[in-house]
Amino acid sequence: MFDSIALAPPDAILGLTDAWKKDPNPLKVNLGVGVFKDDQGNTPILPSVKAAEAAILSGATTKSYMPISGAPDYGKLVQDMIFGADHAVVKATRARTAHTPGGTAALRVGGDFLKKVLPNATVWVSAPTWANHKGVFGAAGFKTADYPYYDPATKGLDFARMQEALEKVPAGDIVLLHACCHNPTGVDLTPAQWTTVAELASRRGWLPFLDFAYQGYGDGLEQDRAGVLALAAVCPEFLVASSFSKNFGLYQDRTGALTVVAGSASVAEAAFSNVEIAIRVNYSNPPAHGGLIVTRILSDVALRAQWMGELTAMREHIAALRTKFVTALGQHGVPGDFSFIQRQKGMFSFSGLSDAQVKFLRDRKSIYIVGGGRINVAGITSKNMEYLCVSIREAMTAG
Ligand code: LMR
Repeated sequence: MFDSIALAPPDAILGLTDAWKKDPNPLKVNLGVGVFKDDQGNTPILPSVKAAEAAILSGATTKSYMPISGAPDYGKLVQDMIFGADHAVVKATRARTAHTPGGTAALRVGGDFLKKVLPNATVWVSAPTWANHKGVFGAAGFKTADYPYYDPATKGLDFARMQEALEKVPAGDIVLLHACCHNPTGVDLTPAQWTTVAELASRRGWLPFLDFAYQGYGDGLEQDRAGVLALAAVCPEFLVASSFSKNFGLYQDRTGALTVVAGSASVAEAAFSNVEIAIRVNYSNPPAHGGLIVTRILSDVALRAQWMGELTAMREHIAALRTKFVTALGQHGVPGDFSFIQRQKGMFSFSGLSDAQVKFLRDRKSIYIVGGGRINVAGITSKNMEYLCVSIREAMTAG
């Protein structure tokens, strides 16, 4: 029965790491998958996470099942992080949060839930978007369509065209928005633009679904909430998918959350009961470990302060790398103005490299970059900077 199955293509992002691992070239560089790396090219466990894990392991008494939506204290702490503890949505219990295995499962559970509520909806995603978004919502049974977002000419946001397209999205459709640190472009909306988009959603009647995978990687935990707060001000209903892969460095512990906001506590409860059904038939209940770490850190004053310092250090490391990279590109005579790299937010830079140049860098230089030209800035180190810039110059002048 399996004889006629064709080989599936490698994953556009995770497949690159597999290929990079197999590459024998000692100069190889992985700028593909979005993981934080220090200047030695390592992705260390955060000291606050290590401390939380030690306490969790020594105090652990059971491996019994978690509730379907995870521990309630986790949900509460996640809401405080997304909205701020005093936010009206939190106080009115209009938000319900499920602990999910990473941000990807949050998106998928949200998709499965919405397929029941809005079976004929289209999910609108930015052009471009994270390589897995269409796959996740397609797997949940949705049609997907693009709205304009990035303008290659200005290397910034094409807000006029985005607004124009969102005006035409039919009521009852779903619009996926990146809350901050847009993946793959690093180009974000300003708070004023968020207000416009939120007002548009409320007036046009489409449902916003925020992908919030990088809270704290843009300008800070609170500053990165601008989109959430703008939506919460005027939209009674929306969804938020959170990931703690990047901000807590819990990549392999698959720790995330799906938050459903509704117009009242009772509507939120009814909606959430259906989210729980979507979870139960999928993975039953979440893996505990990552959630326990997040809970411990966020509820302990000293650990929380330590973690905030570590998060700030990661954000500042990437911001400093952006400046160093732009300077080094200039010093190595790479043609063009790359100052836009400093304006982008988060882990990624949409480099402007063409697919042919990305292929040249991979095939000839063992430098791995996601198709479309997305670079994980955190993958740049003092050691690979020169090789990278010289190779990019070669790729750009190769014809
Ligand atoms: C990325 O975009 O590189 C990350 O979100 C990792 C992933 O799962 O693709």
